[in-house]
Amino acid sequence: MISIAFIGVGNRAGKYLSCLPADVKVAFLVDPDPVRLSQAAAKYGVPANACFSDAETFFSVRREVDGVIITTPDRLHHRQAAAAIRAGYPVLLEKPAAVSQEEFDDLLEESERTGMPVSVCLVMRYYPFCRRIKEVVESGEIGRIVSIDHTEFIGPDRMGHTFVRGLWSRKDLSGPIFLSKCSHDVDFLLWLAGGRALDVSSEGGLTVFHAGHAPAGAAKRCLDCSLDCPYSAVKLYRDRHAWVAGFDAPEGRTLEEVIEEELQTGRYGRCVYHCDNDVNDRQDVQIRLDNGILLRMHLDGVSLEEGRRTIIQGTDGILRAQGPILEVNGRKEDYSAMMDLPLHAGADRLLVEDFIESLRTGHPTAAPLSTTREAHRICFLAR
Ligand SMILES: NC(=O)c1ccc[n+]([C@@H]2O[C@H](COP(=O)([O-])OP(=O)(O)OC[C@H]3O[C@@H](n4cnc5c(N)ncnc54)[C@H](O)[C@@H]3O)[C@@H](O)[C@H]2O)c1
Repeated sequence: MISIAFIGVGNRAGKYLSCLPADVKVAFLVDPDPVRLSQAAAKYGVPANACFSDAETFFSVRREVDGVIITTPDRLHHRQAAAAIRAGYPVLLEKPAAVSQEEFDDLLEESERTGMPVSVCLVMRYYPFCRRIKEVVESGEIGRIVSIDHTEFIGPDRMGHTFVRGLWSRKDLSGPIFLSKCSHDVDFLLWLAGGRALDVSSEGGLTVFHAGHAPAGAAKRCLDCSLDCPYSAVKLYRDRHAWVAGFDAPEGRTLEEVIEEELQTGRYGRCVYHCDNDVNDRQDVQIRLDNGILLRMHLDGVSLEEGRRTIIQGTDGILRAQGPILEVNGRKEDYSAMMDLPLHAGADRLLVEDFIESLRTGHPTAAPLSTTREAHRICFLAR
């Protein structure tokens, strides 16, 4: 039986835990948050002596475990993954693998030196929709790729929750948004196009979510605001119960009570025009590859649209993908049923299964660390 340790038991860990194959044992859990730790331990039957509040203690002794899944905040990835491979555990590591080129190269070197593999959770490589796009490109149906235009519309709920009010809203704490949000997308484009970047140009800024752009009459907290606003925290959390998975209800309290408290005094009750965010809400990045292909990426955090749009211009045709519709030289394929599946349209499950299979067989996963270096490098350059 394969046994796994989880470092960090927040939102992403919850998804991976929920789709672990039945014959995999959750052997250890590590998280400094006592509520999360005890709730995960109870749910997955992990005894108290296999739960740790800090990773250093966990890594200080050799444990009986086949692999480690690291789902902590971005800035901890490098240190914790390096500790894991030094201790002799193969790692599945959330993206980004590191927050600087130096950290990334250090981790890669350590992985190669120890022979311990690190796989990165670049989930787009596992999306059935993205895999279909790659299949079409590789079939030659649109000829050789000339250019790719790719837009990521973050959408108002995710933008407000994560990148304005939330834990990825400050460059000094979480890094630039292009790294935290678009490392998936850059990796996906390189996965399709191949090559190395000859140059990367980037222009972006914080254009909407700041006090200077607040509509007249906007209150500092949504509870006190009478405006009809697409970013209303009251509508998002209290009325629609969306994005509440990270609001922990300790024993004796209900989720409703936690939401109300958050709306009254927490970071998630703040007006999106009156937060302390500084990450970009728009960014345009152009990447010229050494194989002649031009990539144009647009990060759009201000439109009310959500999702991704990819247009691949080939020498013999054109592919347009905007989930769930894929259009190849005018022929349409509809992937609505597939896109509606939970857990990133099934991709999270495929990713976890791939990692477990790599532990069983020693074969590399679909996203080994070394194959993600160029995507990380581009994100570090674009910033
Ligand atoms: N692959 C994807 O599609 C995807 C999507 C969202 C987030 N992410 C990435 O996943 C990672 C986790 O994001 P999340 O949304 O789960 O965040 P989260 O805040 O819900 O979970 C992070 C957990 O790590 C814990 N933690 C903090 N410090 C720790 C430490 N020193 N040791 C152990 N645990 C510690 C926190 O208490 C928390 O429970 C981030 O790097 C994020 O960028 C990836």
